[in-house]
Amino acid sequence: MKKAGIPNFSTDLSGRVALVTGATSGLGERFAHVLAACGASVAAVGRRAEKLADLAQGIRDAGGVCEPITMDVSDRTQIRDGLQRIQSLLGTVDILINNAGIVDARHATKIDDELFDRVMNTNLEGPWFLACGVAERLMQEKKPGRIVNISSIAAFNTQAGMPQALYVTTKGAIVRMTEAMAVEWAKFNINVNAIAPGTFRSEMVDGMLERVGDISQYFPRQRICEPEEMDSTLLFLVSPSSACVTGTCIKIDDGQLGR
Ligand SMILES: NC(=O)c1ccc[n+]([C@@H]2O[C@H](COP(=O)([O-])OP(=O)(O)OC[C@H]3O[C@@H](n4cnc5c(N)ncnc54)[C@H](OP(=O)(O)O)[C@@H]3O)[C@@H](O)[C@H]2O)c1
Repeated sequence: MKKAGIPNFSTDLSGRVALVTGATSGLGERFAHVLAACGASVAAVGRRAEKLADLAQGIRDAGGVCEPITMDVSDRTQIRDGLQRIQSLLGTVDILINNAGIVDARHATKIDDELFDRVMNTNLEGPWFLACGVAERLMQEKKPGRIVNISSIAAFNTQAGMPQALYVTTKGAIVRMTEAMAVEWAKFNINVNAIAPGTFRSEMVDGMLERVGDISQYFPRQRICEPEEMDSTLLFLVSPSSACVTGTCIKIDDGQLGR
């Protein structure tokens, strides 16, 4: 058996190609910066082209490699075209961060067909087709890979008064999708894991705070986490030291919610 050095942890992502969805703001923007700073070539995905261009420039100015890829993850054709484009620009994606997501912010019975499809397609269908597209290519090339799906602590804990039933449904499904894909793809050395964040500072959370007021007063530590407080978990899940970790979901919620 090959012996690993001590500590068996490296954040060197040189030679890796990372696709990060939802990179125009919040957690995804941070993920893109962190992965690029560790040496990965990053395909930064979102719909707002101007924000992607700014992000790519910031990463390049810091010495990293980043290609802005305008893509609506709720559109299968755009996913397939985007994956082709990334392949030709950066090579085979071996790190996928399925991060793009939206909230419903409406009670279940008030959700019309358009909102239902938008939330399902963005939060569940998009991650599904991206994961399959990335995994298929890795299998063809017999390369290992890492997929990290961003779920939510809401997948495990939902509260009366918060209109989020559809969001919770999609985020719960992401956890199960993670487990099922991990089992199916283990033999191909593709690890699939999820992160379930609590409340972290982002555009989404700023919008929620505007709607429902300051919820941090109800948290034991009375604070909202910052995106950089997720760096180490992200890096762990894409690094060699988590080789045997697959099909799991790591909750990062600062103890905000009960268990
Ligand atoms: N922040 C938290 O406290 C928290 C907690 C639990 C889970 N999460 C999850 O973490 C992920 C990131 O959320 P965030 O808080 O960072 O929110 P955010 O700041 O609102 O970012 C959401 C990102 O998703 C992208 N996006 C939305 N719809 C898209 C689409 N159809 N196609 C492509 N990109 C799309 C947005 O980019 P464009 O608008 O440019 O397309 C944006 O970059 C989400 O999946 C969210 O559910 C966040």
